[in-house]
Amino acid sequence: MRLPGLIDVHVHLREPGGTHKEDWDSGTAAALAGGFTAVLAMPNTQPPVTDAATLALALAAARSKARCDYAQYVGAGADNVETAAALAPRAAGLKMYLDQTYGPLRLDDMTAWGAHFERWPAHLPIVAHAESRTLAAVILLAALFDRPVHLAHVALREEIVLIRRAKERGLKVTCEVTPHHLFLSQADIPSLGTGRSEVRPRLATPADVQALWDNLDVIDCFATDHAPHTAAEKDGPTPPPGFPGLETALPLLLTAVEEGRMTKDELVARLATNPRRIFNLPEQPDTWIEVDPDAEYTIRAADAHTRCGWTPFEGRRVRGRVERVILRGQVAYEDGKVLAQPGAGRDLRTEAKHSQASLPQHQTNQPTTQRTNQP
Ligand code: DOR
Ligand code: ZN
Repeated sequence: MRLPGLIDVHVHLREPGGTHKEDWDSGTAAALAGGFTAVLAMPNTQPPVTDAATLALALAAARSKARCDYAQYVGAGADNVETAAALAPRAAGLKMYLDQTYGPLRLDDMTAWGAHFERWPAHLPIVAHAESRTLAAVILLAALFDRPVHLAHVALREEIVLIRRAKERGLKVTCEVTPHHLFLSQADIPSLGTGRSEVRPRLATPADVQALWDNLDVIDCFATDHAPHTAAEKDGPTPPPGFPGLETALPLLLTAVEEGRMTKDELVARLATNPRRIFNLPEQPDTWIEVDPDAEYTIRAADAHTRCGWTPFEGRRVRGRVERVILRGQVAYEDGKVLAQPGAGRDLRTEAKHSQASLPQHQTNQPTTQRTNQP
């Protein structure tokens, strides 16, 4: 079965500063193995990406090491309103952390939210990490400033119900849900263990999980929030929050299709069509993935490409395997092997769009010219 190249609008690749957990090489290898041909990388790295120098640092690593296409978010801080807005055309979007999570980026003062809403260009995405009442507050702010906002990793019944109401009112809100909030709940914490089940937003009640499934029509995107921390860190005294997700998302969701919980078209809309539209990403010509929807297997961290060495879905039976990934005419992944080299990926904001735009119309389905910056 052929599907479009998938787009994950929410991944943490840990470079710069946390490359023992993941880097642009291992993270984009994991993406390809999971059927994703493009990833949007979050800014809570060390240092966090909040200005021109740190954006350049992250993009230099990406340019030499990424195996799939990508774009890099800029983080919203209390003091970088003008700086961030100036970087907007080169960024995946602006990420606003409005609740506590991993890393130092957190915006408490609502006047700073408003300043970013006012200055960040209206046609470029703002993504908010906002839970529960903070989510209600950010929807209000976006409405007051009359601009779109994309709500990351919705996990609770009260959140999805509020988003439905906001959409019914015509407010410009879109949202994503992670596979772990669709396939795991608080009931799984005893078997996962306390440290390994740490994630933000936290795993919710089975009733919350059911509410997400009942409101699938409100969910615009599935995004992994791939947040790798090593098994040793998760099992240590101060377990950081986060789950890896790039290599398990598609098999879990294909299994749900097989079980009749959603259609294949609903899956493709949320993993490819809607992400491209909401984030205004260019087409990736000659790009698709091939999956065997009938292949049944057991998820094992040992088979994965992520550096973190564990998965919360260890031992789960799934149906649907990625067999081949074609990225811009090249075989990027086949039979368990990542073939795309570090540096093969393109920056979707600064490279892919321009190489597309510069081509005459009749050539736009041809593979674009090869880059020559292989390390
Ligand atoms: O669990 C999480 N981990 N949630 C986040 O919002 C951040 C992420 C991380 O970077 O580890
Ligand atoms: Zn995240």
